[in-house]
Amino acid sequence: MTTNSLVSSLRIAAPETYDTQELQRLDAAHYLHPFTDHAALRERGARVIVRADDVYLWDSDGKKIIDGMAGLWCVNAGYGRASIADAVHAQLLQLPFYNSFFNTTNVPAVKLAALLAELSPTGFQHVFFTGSGSEANDTIVRMVRRYWQLAGKPEREVIISRRNAYHGSTLAGASLGGMAGMHAQGGLPLPGFDHIGQPNYAEDGRGMSEAAFGLHAAGWLEEKILEVGPEKIAAFIGEPVQGAGGVIIPPATYWPEIQRICRKYDILLVSDEVICGFGRLGAWFGCQLMGFEPDLIAFAKGVTSGYVPLGGVLVGARVAHTLIEKGGDFNHGFTYSGHPAACAAALENIRILQAERLVERVALETGPHLKARFSALTAHPLVGHAETCGLAAGLNLVRRKGASVHDCEAFPALQAVGMLCRKHMFDNGVIMRAVGDRMIVAPPLSMTVGQIDEMVERIGVCLDSTLEEVVRRGWYA
Ligand SMILES: Cc1ncc(COP(=O)(O)O)c(C=O)c1O
Repeated sequence: MTTNSLVSSLRIAAPETYDTQELQRLDAAHYLHPFTDHAALRERGARVIVRADDVYLWDSDGKKIIDGMAGLWCVNAGYGRASIADAVHAQLLQLPFYNSFFNTTNVPAVKLAALLAELSPTGFQHVFFTGSGSEANDTIVRMVRRYWQLAGKPEREVIISRRNAYHGSTLAGASLGGMAGMHAQGGLPLPGFDHIGQPNYAEDGRGMSEAAFGLHAAGWLEEKILEVGPEKIAAFIGEPVQGAGGVIIPPATYWPEIQRICRKYDILLVSDEVICGFGRLGAWFGCQLMGFEPDLIAFAKGVTSGYVPLGGVLVGARVAHTLIEKGGDFNHGFTYSGHPAACAAALENIRILQAERLVERVALETGPHLKARFSALTAHPLVGHAETCGLAAGLNLVRRKGASVHDCEAFPALQAVGMLCRKHMFDNGVIMRAVGDRMIVAPPLSMTVGQIDEMVERIGVCLDSTLEEVVRRGWYA
């Protein structure tokens, strides 16, 4: 059998019927997945997702699942948006591709750049397009260093980030990131990247008010600047709310103090909004909610709701002016920078977010509802504490509850209770992600109040079955 006929034979009889085992066999034989232990995957077989609509997914066995993670923090407008598919289809027929190098442009890229300039915080009039969030952050590293060359301070090369931050998987993205597991594979971070602690009140704020802890954690930046030498520091980068690190929401005092320190030492401030941008926190950009004014903003994911890959960098006045007026060629770019079909998808996606007022709904209706429902989950014997910001939320599974976040007792890491819980979630038709023993959600922004109730009820059932299992194993204190 040729490969083509083999593959087409996997979809058998009715359109909804798939040969799951054969798909899993081929998957294990040929497909190297991102961030995956392939030996373990081979044992279990991959879940095959075949269809999606609204906030629901279906797997190849016909199981319906409520998607608490918006794909991978990206399907902000929800699934099944025919108008995005139509916009992409029309653009592919009109002009499927042309590059933006060599003094050329295309209509959707121009329109999207102008729309982003309108939507962005004050002072952002320019955008550099990429294909992903990682490429956006790589672009930022190159752009920041080019800026300092042009500003006559080429020795400003070091970029400071935070431990447990995620900024992508390319060499620069993973170096900017603070994930120990990524640094352990292949000699990262590269030279020129440094890290400070993350503003995690539950982990490090014992004995302090949240407000005092915010200032304290921002102070780690000043310590690092003085340790490395202010004259060598190019920029500081952070996510307004750390997503992949576990929905770590900083105290309100944190970001304004970070901005004050950056200004004091004349350091560029970068907001990585790959997750937070396009409404996740109930504002178009997370920096607006957290009260700071960055020089550069990385975006991706929600700009197209993941329908087609697209990312980019919003470039503030200071950097844009220097690059444009003094820079000559910026020797950087990607074949797919400003891809017409991706930009067409983004234009229609943003039209939907605006027409349905999804960002405002997160701020005023669905975000507060999720917060109330997650707060109520803290009554569960397994849940130590819960936090939400817009439609991003986390809850900590603990072995013993305490009077405050600092008095809860965690499960030993080896017991991997978060992963156990994640499996109960999936078996019961809800997708939640586990970051250690912190269970997180970031559903589509189109999720209604009723669907939030449905999701949280299913989460409650899964917490019960996880509790039963840890009690049976003798792990619950
Ligand atoms: C904050 C942040 N930055 C960058 C990235 C990398 O984006 P991509 O996977 O599109 O390269 C991610 C991905 O999750 C992210 O969460």
